[in-house]
This record gives sequence, C-alpha cells and structure tokens, in this order.
Amino acid sequence: MLGRLSSVAQRAPRRWQASSQGIDYSCLHQLAPYIGKLKPLIARELLGQFTSPGDVVLDCFSGSGTIPLESVMLGRRTLAFDTNPYAITLTRAKLEAPPSLEAANEQLAQRLLASQRRSRYDQRTIPLWVRKFFHPKTLQSALRFADECIEKDDQFLLACLLSILHHQRPGFLSYPSSHLVPYLRDRKFPKEEFPEMYAERDLAPRLVAKLARAYKHGGSINRSKVLRVARIGVADLKLDYEVDAIITSPPYMNALDYVRDNRLRMWFLDRSTVDYSPEPTDRQMQSDAITSAFASNALKYLRKGGHCVLVVGETVLRKRIKTHPAERMLAQLTTEYPGLRVERVIRDEIPDIRRSRKTGAATKRELVLVLRKE
Ligand SMILES: C[S@@+](CC[C@H](N)C(=O)[O-])C[C@H]1O[C@@H](n2cnc3c(N)ncnc32)[C@H](O)[C@@H]1O
Repeated sequence: MLGRLSSVAQRAPRRWQASSQGIDYSCLHQLAPYIGKLKPLIARELLGQFTSPGDVVLDCFSGSGTIPLESVMLGRRTLAFDTNPYAITLTRAKLEAPPSLEAANEQLAQRLLASQRRSRYDQRTIPLWVRKFFHPKTLQSALRFADECIEKDDQFLLACLLSILHHQRPGFLSYPSSHLVPYLRDRKFPKEEFPEMYAERDLAPRLVAKLARAYKHGGSINRSKVLRVARIGVADLKLDYEVDAIITSPPYMNALDYVRDNRLRMWFLDRSTVDYSPEPTDRQMQSDAITSAFASNALKYLRKGGHCVLVVGETVLRKRIKTHPAERMLAQLTTEYPGLRVERVIRDEIPDIRRSRKTGAATKRELVLVLRKE
C-alpha cells in the first residue's frame, strides 16, 4: 500500500510550484505567517475546479484562512473552523478586514489612542521567555494594544500586530529574531555590535506601514458570504448547513506543531497558554482520531455528489518516524465512510520556499485527494 497512491497520482500543474510573488489576488493572504499554509493559487484552482459561485464551502482546518479567503473572493460562501486561536484570529482578520486603507487607518488611530490609556503591566507578571524578545517599553505598548484589540474583538488589527511581532527587520517589534518560529538571533546580532536592534520600537509607524502593505492590492471582502468562522475542533463540529464542497488541508501528523511554533503570537492572544516545551512526538493515534472525527462529523454535511478535496502530506519523516498520512487517511476515510469514491489524486512537489523546515524533517510532497460523495 505504501507509496501506491503516489505512483497512481497525476502531477500537479507546474505553476503550483512557481513563486507566488505577484500572483496572489489579495495582499491579505500575506497578512501574517502561519506554518503549513496553503498556496493561494492552489486554493483558487481547487475551488475553481470543484465548486461554483454561490456554493457553500467548508474548511474545517482553516489555519490562516487561505481557502476561506479565496472562497469569498470567488463568490462562494464559507464556513471555517480550526482549534488554534491564532488560526481563527487570522481567518477572521482576513474576512473582516476594513473595506479600505483609509478605514483601516482610522480604526488603527482609535485603537492606538485607547491602548495608551490602558493601565501599565507589571513586568514581573510577564514570563521571562517573553520579556527576552522585547525592549520593556515596546512590550508595554504591544501588550496594551493587543488587549485593546481583544477587548473590542478587533481581529484584523490584532492579526496586524501579531504579524510584526518578531523578526530581525526594523519594521518589526522584537529584538533580532526569526520570523516564522520565534528564536532570538542575539548571537548573530550581539547587542554591543548592533545596539540599534535593541532600542525601543515605536508601534504606530510600524502598524501604519503594515496596513499599507496589507492594502497594496486586492478588493474588499463581501462579508455576506461568510457564514461562520469559529474555534471548533472537528470532533465537535455541528452545522446548520448542507455543504456543496469540503476543501481543506488537515494537520500533517508528526510534521508541524501549530501551538509550539506560534508560541509568542499565541501568548499575546491567550496569556494562559503554556506548555510549549514538549517536542512533537508520534501523533499517529491523534491523527487517526482526527480522521475519524472528520469522517463522522464533517462528511455527513456534504451534499450527495459534492466533492471532498484534501491536501495531505505524502510522507512525513520526523524523529526517525516515517509516516504516510495521505495513504493512511484515505484508507481510514473510505472504510469509515463507504459512500466516498476516490475520483483523482494529484501529486504536488513542495519546493523549499514553501516548506517551513527545509532540512530533513517534515513533508516534501503533498497529495491532493479528490473524493466524491455517492
Ligand atoms: C495544514 S494546517 C491548515 C493550513 C491552511 N490551509 C492554511 O492555508 O493556512 C492544519 C490546521 O488544522 C488545525 N487542527 C489541528 N487539529 C485540529 C482539530 N482536531 N480540529 C480542527 N482543526 C485542527 C491546526 O490548528 C492547523 O491550523
């Protein structure tokens, strides 16, 4: 069985591998980083092939909201769910973005003013690992701005803040560090040699620049197409809608740890989020449970004849554990949900620029499983 799927699969079009620079239809796709993010072009092509305008499209592992955003831009209606609060913030931010740059700037000015009136944080209540990333004054203003956005349920500006939280570039708020997964780069950029990288960073101009980037191109979002976005795991999914298509990319077993890898942004969203230390281990059982929940909770809402399109890692190597998520998931789905018929399998090589870990681990090839409900 292992490897069989890959050999019967047809190759993805070459354009799926090309750089997405200049072809994203909305800069909102680049609002903030998220590991395991789908390329917008792939989402767009899958939606174009397997759905029609007006259709209800379900993404129950929405991550950064690539599929929901493309769905709405293509005139489909969207239902989006994920367990990760950062994923829900990003998905909502993209779908709830103010209609214009002017409106976004106005909203920003209000939030900044209100955040400056908030009371100051006692530094001692902030965990040391968080404090290590920021100048104390920058941390104060970032936290107060985050709290203001959380209180006003302003997911858009909250996502903008999280997007500029850590990096080594001057437009970001932290001391020199990596962008995707947060690590300090203080050895590469010692304070004595690069004192400017350790100075206080003013929030306002950096957020204004962020907004300008977010609105560089792309139209406004038709909110009437957004049916529901919520932090719900697939095991608890209950819908009031029949769906025309499910297009989604489930978590890659063993490969990515969405909480740990987003730990600094997650801490800003939820100060009680802890336990970032354990390394991802064998998640086979957990993945099987997610597949079962998907089969019993999501597929029952799919209309007869509707497509279920899953973008899944082909082989995952991690910590000497080799798994074949696509094979395993397909076998499990068709056993637990006999009404599903495999229509097509598409094989996509993931170029290094699209992989969050470029050496050794994680997945190098993904399969698009196209199933149809009989
Ligand atoms: C491969 S990512 C999705 C990426 C997304 N398509 C994008 O473009 O950003 C898989 C997502 O599944 C979510 N997830 C993991 N377990 C879940 C569960 N039991 N129920 C719902 N979502 C889950 C993770 O938080 C992660 O965001």
